[in-house]
Amino acid sequence: MKCLRPLARRLTLNTGAAIPTLGLGTWQSEPQVIGPVIRHAIEEGYRHFDCAAMYKNEAEIGRAYKSIINDGLCRREDLFITSKLSPYDLFPDKINDAVNKTLSDLKLDYLDLYLIHWPHRIKYPPLNTTDTSHVEPYKENWMKDAWIILENIFKEGRLKAIGLSNFSIKKMEHILSNSTVKPAVNQVENHIYFQQAVMKKYLDSKEILMQSYSPLGSPQRSSTAAEDPTVLSDPVVKRIADTHNATPAQICIAFLLRDNKVVLAKSVNPIRLKSNLNSLDIQLTEQDYKDITAVDKNYRLFRARFLRPYSTYKNFWDEDFEAELSN
Ligand SMILES: NC(=O)c1ccc[n+]([C@@H]2O[C@H](COP(=O)([O-])OP(=O)(O)OC[C@H]3O[C@@H](n4cnc5c(N)ncnc54)[C@H](OP(=O)(O)O)[C@@H]3O)[C@@H](O)[C@H]2O)c1
Repeated sequence: MKCLRPLARRLTLNTGAAIPTLGLGTWQSEPQVIGPVIRHAIEEGYRHFDCAAMYKNEAEIGRAYKSIINDGLCRREDLFITSKLSPYDLFPDKINDAVNKTLSDLKLDYLDLYLIHWPHRIKYPPLNTTDTSHVEPYKENWMKDAWIILENIFKEGRLKAIGLSNFSIKKMEHILSNSTVKPAVNQVENHIYFQQAVMKKYLDSKEILMQSYSPLGSPQRSSTAAEDPTVLSDPVVKRIADTHNATPAQICIAFLLRDNKVVLAKSVNPIRLKSNLNSLDIQLTEQDYKDITAVDKNYRLFRARFLRPYSTYKNFWDEDFEAELSN
């Protein structure tokens, strides 16, 4: 059996379950490459994988899990596997089937964590580039109904924890005031240029973990704007990386880990994937931490244009509400 180096560092969800603090992202990992990547990642020590129906690679990932477990490389209970409910399936009559489809694709009996991917739902694919009628904007009442369905599946045991993704504090407040099962996490964009201090403080106060997506600034994302800053080129991060004999990516990950966040970084490259894992061994100094905190630009790279035709950018993320909380 090849190297088995399970991640030592874990946090605890409000369900009591342990979650490895660094997970491998799988968005934009091509179906034809992701299988060997999962095997390699497990050999290197990854135990936490962030999947989603929308990523269109769950069947290949599931085949990899099955063969890895059959080969005795690790046991199912050693892995922490997340998936997400697509906005196309965020309808009461579709949720149960969507959970079953993901379980079947991933070849699992249960998921460790299942998230509502976005707080909006999509009725059908857009008819053309200007079509906006396919999106159904967030409404508190239908989201409450969806959450109750997930609570019931959680109580049956197919989902060991349930949570949210891309939810603003305002929308989380709606869920919390209507729920019998508290969300375990909110998975949000989080990197040195979008540090989300208000969100983190709020989540801590509710015993909900923050999962940081795009910790490297998602250089592969399609929705880029010329003015977007490049996380991995930040001069402060580069200087600190040199002092630790580390890469900028390792420093970006280590910075988020230090705040007790669960970090999800994606790589299909064996060298980068291993080097990202080694961020766990980096100890930033207080000064490093302060210097990186100071580079925050409150700059959101994911504007979710595809989901917000009905509203202003600010309303989509409820930024006015968060600004009031920070005062
Ligand atoms: N809930 C949501 O709505 C949501 C949204 C976005 C992302 N996510 C999750 O979070 C995960 C991570 O976010 P992300 O994929 O957007 O971006 P990311 O992890 O910030 O960046 C991934 C990109 O960086 C490259 N990379 C990886 N390691 C590197 C290194 N050490 N040095 C330089 N480049 C490196 C990768 O290329 P290679 O693969 O070629 O190494 C890939 O292009 C996703 O995969 C997904 O699981 C969730």
